Amino acid sequence: MNKFYHIVTYGCQMNVHESEKIAGILSDMGYESCDSPEKADIVVFNTCCIRENAENHAFGNIGMLKKLKAARKDMIIAVGGCLPQQMNKAENLHEKFPYVDIIFGTHNLHRLKELILKKQRQKKAVIEIDDSEGEICEEDKPLRTSYPNAWVNIMYGCNNFCSYCIVPYVRGRERSRDSAKIIEEVRSLVADGYKEITLLGQNVNSYKGDLSFPRLLEEIAKIDGKFRLRFMTSHPKDFSQELIDVMAKYPKICHCLHLPVQSGSDAILKAMNRKYTAGQYLEKVAALKAKIPDCAITTDLIVGFPGETDEDFKATLELARKVNFSSAFTFVYSKREGTVAAKMENQVHEEVSKARIMQLVDLINSQTRALSQTYIGKTIEILCEDYDEKRGLYLGRDEYGRMGYFASDENLVGQFVNIKVEQANGVSLTGSIVG
Ligand code: 5AD
Ligand code: SF4
Repeated sequence: MNKFYHIVTYGCQMNVHESEKIAGILSDMGYESCDSPEKADIVVFNTCCIRENAENHAFGNIGMLKKLKAARKDMIIAVGGCLPQQMNKAENLHEKFPYVDIIFGTHNLHRLKELILKKQRQKKAVIEIDDSEGEICEEDKPLRTSYPNAWVNIMYGCNNFCSYCIVPYVRGRERSRDSAKIIEEVRSLVADGYKEITLLGQNVNSYKGDLSFPRLLEEIAKIDGKFRLRFMTSHPKDFSQELIDVMAKYPKICHCLHLPVQSGSDAILKAMNRKYTAGQYLEKVAALKAKIPDCAITTDLIVGFPGETDEDFKATLELARKVNFSSAFTFVYSKREGTVAAKMENQVHEEVSKARIMQLVDLINSQTRALSQTYIGKTIEILCEDYDEKRGLYLGRDEYGRMGYFASDENLVGQFVNIKVEQANGVSLTGSIVG
């Protein structure tokens, strides 16, 4: 009899890739993937806790499985990742959802097989949350689900302790993988036909293997074959001229950079413990544009950080206007227990934050739309990633990260395709294949 697994993933690219590692473990155990919890013998929730709504989302979906579990007692429900790794959260989860069989932390993912086998031997829930990060586990064999893109971890954890952020508490201190192992992994992915490699780390610029990050990137860019190379996330304080020079030198490295600024106000940046000023951020952007004028820059922005005044918020709008981001993720500050900012006085009222986020989103959307309009009539190279059933069109991204849709009778997933852009709708483009 076939056994099936279903994984529900929340949060960032790091989690998406970790779900591929979970899939690798389950498929080694003989489980096959299925698309709904109803059909599954094991359901794994890979959770996120970066903002309160990410947590609530997971809680809601775990709650919805109560009935299913009551009807199918032999089904296993596992909850892992960042949510249970928070202080006291595993116990809370267990109390709130006693029918959850396995609760595991971010440092226990590679032990999932043992945890499942243990659960099959005992009635009691299995809870394993390690506080210490320990050695990097190189044994995981991810079952990749995002062809032609492949995610490659270069480091784990974060040492920055931005005052609003829970990540350093749930992901532990920075640990870098050996450069030789990373290079070998990319080489074999390219040989297997992957066309886009994205190097992942909470702060890739503080990679500390035997090579610096720019040198590692350079070695990877020298690997033969046609593929695109991306990396995320870069912290502005560590973003260097050396890295800009490597990006400019190798055509495989996409002219696209995710450089979260968070705020345009120096007072707020200081309170956030970001270790740069708005002026220094703009200088780095200018240095990048001087060397790579066509480089697309994307960012993350937070409104409503404790103490943010109208003036501070205006400075964020002003910075966004100056940089003209190609797109941006915008967030309302969310108080995370255990972080420094959670204890700050003068938390901003929800109504004020809501009004600010709407204004910011309007500005970002108008910039994104204006940039998309400049594409009309141009021919761009798209790496075809998927087929959109609803629209009946293939889709993919150009090197700058813009999504493009096009019609084709042939399945072109995994191929580079030139399309002439005919329409721009917000962040995405539509066009036709050209010779
Ligand atoms: N509230 C709102 N946004 C947050 N981020 C991180 N922590 C919080 C928080 N407590 C945002 C930052 C970060 C992105 C991944 O999530 O902008 O860059
Ligand atoms: Fe969080 Fe700051 Fe680390 Fe990014 S750099 S993960 S925002 S603490």
